[in-house]
Amino acid sequence: MNSESMDVRVDYSRVFTQAIDRLHAEGRYRVFIDILRNKGSFPNARCFAGHNGPKPITVWCSNDYLAMGQHPKVIAAMEEALHDVGAGSGGTRNIGGNTHYHVDLEGELADLHDKEAALLFTSGYVSNEATLATLAKILPGCVIFSDELNHASMIAGIRNSGCEKRVFRHNDLAHLEALLAAEDPSVPKLIAFESVYSMEGDVAPIAAICDLADRYNALTYLDEVHAVGMYGARGGGISEREGVADRLTIIEGTLGKAFGVMGGYIAASRTIIDVIRSYAPGFIFTTSLSPVLVAGVLASVRHLKGSSAEREGQQASAALLKGMFAEAGLPVMIGDTHIVPLMVGDPVKAKKISDVLLAEYGVYVQPINYPTVPRGTERLRFTPGPAHTPAMMRELTDALVEIWGRLALRKAA
Ligand SMILES: Cc1ncc(COP(=O)(O)O)c(C=O)c1O
Repeated sequence: MNSESMDVRVDYSRVFTQAIDRLHAEGRYRVFIDILRNKGSFPNARCFAGHNGPKPITVWCSNDYLAMGQHPKVIAAMEEALHDVGAGSGGTRNIGGNTHYHVDLEGELADLHDKEAALLFTSGYVSNEATLATLAKILPGCVIFSDELNHASMIAGIRNSGCEKRVFRHNDLAHLEALLAAEDPSVPKLIAFESVYSMEGDVAPIAAICDLADRYNALTYLDEVHAVGMYGARGGGISEREGVADRLTIIEGTLGKAFGVMGGYIAASRTIIDVIRSYAPGFIFTTSLSPVLVAGVLASVRHLKGSSAEREGQQASAALLKGMFAEAGLPVMIGDTHIVPLMVGDPVKAKKISDVLLAEYGVYVQPINYPTVPRGTERLRFTPGPAHTPAMMRELTDALVEIWGRLALRKAA
């Protein structure tokens, strides 16, 4: 190799370091907080970051919304499965990894959403990516209409399908209709959206979107990740609460948030489930969920179908915290859901508030930055659940008021 060709060689290490430096410069370099949750006393946990030994903390940003990950029935079911069948599934669903737990859970989830069938994936992310990418490939010429705030996993699926995409303004029915009307009536269409938008805490007009789907002969794909377990009489999500589950072509959910364990799924007609099962690489070519996890989810879904106490507790906690924040003049984004975001609007300040809360008050809430939310809308996202007490909320509010004053932050308008 001559000296000239040496000069043009890529300096890989420099490229990687610069990529990380850019995140630091923008104030959005992500730091993982090292914690262990205390089984049976959620939201209490221990934090290992920057301390001599574990420090007690209160978790305010968990998506184990109903503390089902610590529910005695869930833990007992997982222990029983572990001792009965061992740790892993041993294969893909097609080759050795189709356990009776998986079959049972798919039946339970189909029933939850009043659909003919359901299909499990290793996460909600994978279920969105795999399903959307596969559906649009199966439907030649398909155009997907996607809400602008859709989750990264839906965007990845749409991109990987290679189909045409039209992005409609968030929850904007007029814009969606204009885009649908502009399309050739003969092309296949799919509207992809969420029920509860997890960073805003607002809810989609599902029935009205289904009306548009009917009018323009489009399929509908609803991500209920932040609603399953928490809304509807049996935890079937906002679509159950509003009596519109039967109008949706596909409902997608996670098993890792309100159900407290791990995994994802879709529920739909038998034919659609058969298509995704048969064609989606993200379903076919991966080891199926551990039966231990599936047993835990089964217990969780069954419990939440019959018990509304957790849902009611969560709603009461969210209402109380929103009220306390608003009364204290904190810039709370008021929505109709369990999610309580406080707008900061700056990544460095959001990180600073989170650092002070953890170091001085034992409060753990992660700052939310770009690309999870648009730049300039950085926020703290609180997820109070049935186990957060009014006393904890009072302490949290007082801490935030003190920090807001100390850092001279903008209060509510
Ligand atoms: C709207 C939405 N859909 C899908 C997912 C992915 O779900 P999972 O965490 O099970 O992969 C998330 C995760 O945060 C989400 O917020």
